[in-house]
Amino acid sequence: MVYNNILETIGKTPLVRLNNVVSDIPATVYAKLEAFNPGLSAKDRIALHMIERAERLGQLKPGGTVVDATSGNTGFSLAMVCAIKGYKCVLTVTSKVSEDKLNNLRAMGAEVVLCPQEAKPTDPRSYYRRAEQLAKDIPNAFYVNQNFNADNGDAHYLSTGPEIWEQTHGRVTWLIGSASTGGTLCGSGRYLQEQNPDLKVVAVDAFGSVLKKYHETGVYDENEIYAYRIEGTGKNIIPANIDFEMIDRFVKVTDKDSALRARELARKEGILAGYSSGATLQCLQQIKDELTPEDVVVLIFADHGSKYVSKIFNDEWMRSQDFLPAEEGSEELKKATSDIQKALC
Ligand SMILES: Cc1ncc(COP(=O)(O)O)c(C=O)c1O
Repeated sequence: MVYNNILETIGKTPLVRLNNVVSDIPATVYAKLEAFNPGLSAKDRIALHMIERAERLGQLKPGGTVVDATSGNTGFSLAMVCAIKGYKCVLTVTSKVSEDKLNNLRAMGAEVVLCPQEAKPTDPRSYYRRAEQLAKDIPNAFYVNQNFNADNGDAHYLSTGPEIWEQTHGRVTWLIGSASTGGTLCGSGRYLQEQNPDLKVVAVDAFGSVLKKYHETGVYDENEIYAYRIEGTGKNIIPANIDFEMIDRFVKVTDKDSALRARELARKEGILAGYSSGATLQCLQQIKDELTPEDVVVLIFADHGSKYVSKIFNDEWMRSQDFLPAEEGSEELKKATSDIQKALC
């Protein structure tokens, strides 16, 4: 099979059975490996669909500029599509995003505008407001607005959902994935629930995100917001692409558990997946008591672990976050031992 360009290789990602990390789970568990997309994440699907829809609607014209606020993956995919189609790509990114991801964006030809992570969504310095403003200031620019652009969810309704249905021969009973814009989980979930209205959809959320509380109470509570480490899970706004009605439950997972699960996935399944995939596997652990042997669970693993080699796959970083114990024989351990000895004397 020969492809005319890289964009034709987007989608049709494999569904792979998990074995060693789910030996205590009473169900069949598969992972939808979105890292098999050429841009190494599920966001390739939405980038292509949103840009092609904008072309068809006349919102994006030859020589134009594509602008969005993105935590990294969507930006990379948008830049990839722009490279093929000849558009400029300007991305606003929060200062939380890893150096690896920033370098990847620049490698793909994008112009990156760094915005402070602590800026509230309404703050003109926030990455949302900066993108909006840049799209107004740059002539012939298209503001993608992935959180509120319905073509985001539609991309998954048209591709990821049908793929999962076909790959499980209609046997899928649970769909679990991280929610950020909500496009991946709700787009594919919408298609799957149309085929099987009993399908359970579980959204993975982070401590520091507003989504779970909003789902349970209808209240957008700013007090829920604080900095956290997982990328691509949870939100500090309420995106239009999250269909709260179709989601059975939001489950919060910790930064530490999620990082350890991602590492476990690599070592026990040979799958180097990203931080939010670790979060998704952790979520499965937290709901496992509700599963039966008849259940077929699909976990959406949104991106590739190579994007996090300087973070969750770096022991030093893990120790700096207290996600791993201090190294045996390390300075910290020696100091702690000597402090204890002094106190005992
Ligand atoms: C690594 C990663 N996982 C999961 C998600 C969640 O996908 P969605 O925005 O479709 O909810 C994202 C999106 O930002 C992501 O970058």
